[in-house]
This record gives sequence, structure tokens and C-alpha cells, in this order.
Amino acid sequence: YYYYYYYYYLCQSEVIAPSQPIVAFVGEDIILPCHLEPAMNAFDITTEWARPDLDPRFVLVWRDGVELESKKHSSYRGRTSLFTEELKHGNVSLKLSKVKISDEGTYRCFIPVLARASTVQLVVGAVSPPVIQSSKNLSAVVLQCESEGWYPEPEVLWLDGEGNLLSAGPTETLRGPDGLYTVSSRVAVEKRHNNNFTCRVQQQNINQTRETHVHVPG
Ligand SMILES: *[C@@H]1O[C@H](CO)[C@@H](O)[C@H](O)[C@H]1NC(C)=O
Ligand SMILES: *[C@@H]1O[C@H](CO)[C@@H](O)[C@H](O)[C@H]1NC(C)=O
Ligand SMILES: *[C@@H]1O[C@H](CO)[C@@H](O)[C@H](O)[C@H]1NC(C)=O
Repeated sequence: YYYYYYYYYLCQSEVIAPSQPIVAFVGEDIILPCHLEPAMNAFDITTEWARPDLDPRFVLVWRDGVELESKKHSSYRGRTSLFTEELKHGNVSLKLSKVKISDEGTYRCFIPVLARASTVQLVVGAVSPPVIQSSKNLSAVVLQCESEGWYPEPEVLWLDGEGNLLSAGPTETLRGPDGLYTVSSRVAVEKRHNNNFTCRVQQQNINQTRETHVHVPG
């Protein structure tokens, strides 16, 4: 009976991973989901998590009930693991700690004995609040907005108190050695203008917006 059901499941189980990308922020710990359906005990079978674009491509290799550390790409050393208790229930999800920008990519969850694989897309983001500084000249107030530590590159918008878009100079963008972007933008507003202004920094790929308001006394 045991073997009969074992082989039955071997033939039937699918490897299931989400089709929607997983969004993670720099520094977070996240889970890349992958499981067998119908569930079968995955503790004693081999699971390979890999990124096909890397060399070596392995992010984690689980074989004979242990992780083979020597197989994995050095940038993942000490940062990937499986949920040992969950393997019994066919849950081979990967835990990835302290997410970095370079972790962005396609991850493949492969079960060699089933000859089946599934892929998960990881999108990495970083956000930070903008800071506004103001300075005056004779006829206008110059507002400078800066936001340090974004990924991917965000856009910067200025709005007046009624939510109208203001035309600003070009956004200056710098990329730091850590891969994060710093953006800054200036706008000159006339003193007679409505005196509550917003600097909005947004990134559509990661669906994130941060904004700061400033009140300019008339
Ligand atoms: C797999 O295990 C992880 C970690 O405990 C959990 O978050 C996830 O919901 C589990 N997935 C399934 C399909 O049970
Ligand atoms: C984007 O974020 C907003 C607010 O956090 C949320 O209501 C919306 O569902 C999100 N959209 C997508 C496509 O994730
Ligand atoms: C400025 O406007 C924003 C909404 O656009 C509002 O949340 C904020 O409280 C206002 N600030 C001041 C000082 O009026």
C-alpha cells in the first residue's frame, strides 16, 4: 500500500508557486511560496531553489533531509532556509533573510523526482520619506525636496494646496554605491500663490508613494 500511494502521488503532485510577483523591501525577511499539491512528504526528497541567471545558480539545495550549503551561490550564504516542519506537508517555501537589491529576479523551485518546477518572481523595493527645505529670494520662495534611498528609481511631483501639479525643474538623480537612488527637485513658488505645498515621491512598480507637506507663510 505504502509504495502504491507513494508512486501514485509521485505521478500526480504538481509544484505550485504564485503567478503574481512577490514584492519585498530591502532589509526585510520574506517567503517565496512553493508547495506540492496534492501534499506529499517532501522531507526526504530533493528540493532545489535556483536562479537560472546566476552561476552557480543554486540558492538552496535540500537533499536527504539536510541542506547542502556548499552548492549555494555565495551571495545567499546564511540567508536562505526551508521550513523544516513544513516539508512533511509538502511545503517547500523558501525563506530569504535581509533582502538586497541584487536578490531581484526569477526563482525556480524544482523537485527532481517529480521532474516538475515552478517559478516565482521577486521584485525588490526601497522607499524613504522626502524632506523639504525652503529658501526665499525677492519675489519667490524656492522649495527643494530630497528623498534618499529609493529602489527602483522613483519620480518626484510637486502639488499645490488644491492638488494641482506644479511645473518644477528636472529631477536630479544620484545612485549610491549601495544601488539606492537619491532624488531631488526644486520648484519656485510665488508668494501670492496658495501656500500649502506637497512633494510626492512615487514608484509604480512597487506601488509606493511617500509625501511631505510644507506650509509657506504668505
Ligand atoms: C508554508 O510555510 C510557510 C511558513 O510557515 C507559510 O507561511 C505558508 O503559508 C505555508 N504554505 C502552505 C501552502 O501551507
Ligand atoms: C497600491 O497601493 C494601494 C495603497 O496602499 C492599494 O490600495 C492598492 O490596492 C495597491 N495596488 C496594487 C496594484 O497593488
Ligand atoms: C496641506 O495639505 C495637505 C493635503 O494636501 C494636508 O494634509 C495638510 O494638513 C496641509 N497642511 C497645512 C499646514 O495646511
